[in-house]
Amino acid sequence: MNPPLGLTAEQRAQWQRDGFLVLPDFKSAQDIHAIRQRAGEIVDAFDPQGQMSVFATHDQARLSADAQFLASGSGIHCFFEEEAFDEHGQLRQAKALSINKIGHALHDLDPVFDAFSHGIALTSVARDLGLGDARVWQSMFIFKQPGIGGEVRWHQDATFLHTSPQSVVGFWFALEDATRDNGCLWVAPGAHRGPLRERFVRVSNPQLGQPLTQLEALDPTPWPDLAQALPVEVPAGTLVCLHGLLPHYSAPNRSAHSRHAYTLHAVDGASTYSVSNWLQRGADLPLRGFLG
Ligand code: FE2
Repeated sequence: MNPPLGLTAEQRAQWQRDGFLVLPDFKSAQDIHAIRQRAGEIVDAFDPQGQMSVFATHDQARLSADAQFLASGSGIHCFFEEEAFDEHGQLRQAKALSINKIGHALHDLDPVFDAFSHGIALTSVARDLGLGDARVWQSMFIFKQPGIGGEVRWHQDATFLHTSPQSVVGFWFALEDATRDNGCLWVAPGAHRGPLRERFVRVSNPQLGQPLTQLEALDPTPWPDLAQALPVEVPAGTLVCLHGLLPHYSAPNRSAHSRHAYTLHAVDGASTYSVSNWLQRGADLPLRGFLG
């Protein structure tokens, strides 16, 4: 499958107007199969014991979770669904059906994900969305497991990857058909013209000897109400592009079917990336564009 390079004038106008864009048939069944299979291998190799330890205090658990989350920015880490465990701390279902996501440097560290995440087609779309010099900061394989796939509440992606001026764009690939039943994306068309409401930052904590993450309120503008929300029901292979200020969410997946998706988030190299963003990189893992 060879998607047309770049966007039409109509698609660019849609992007400006709505803050999101749906590009069907962007990835082939073969491309999708390759990363779903690879994600399965990563989960198979993942030993959950380290993450299943019982902590004496809530603070200890929080510190451990924060340390793992911050480390994942330059690694490949598996994260559990919140409802994966029973009251005794045991998995309720098989490990492969318990993982919420894998993040956040798959696109740089794993050859199969690297191939999926780079190429001329993505470069052209990114350029037409305003990323003249794209820098791909993060990747996530999202499982949205059957029955327990957790809700992702209303948020804006610029909360997590803040630049001046705002430039982050989310690239959301449907790896399975996404429907209202299995927890598709919901967006508020046009609401990307509103303010950034929150920031998720890394704060130093010399007493603890490790940084922590923190969500800071910026603007009290309420989230859109459900009447403004539009479900983005799309078949596998579709690419959905999301403006960094567009409010979006996804409901829990209570269906018997998973809703696998893969996301990339990129900013413009001409903007200033905030030093307080949770996601930072060392010189050992240089940022790349979509051409690799
Ligand atoms: Fe998002």
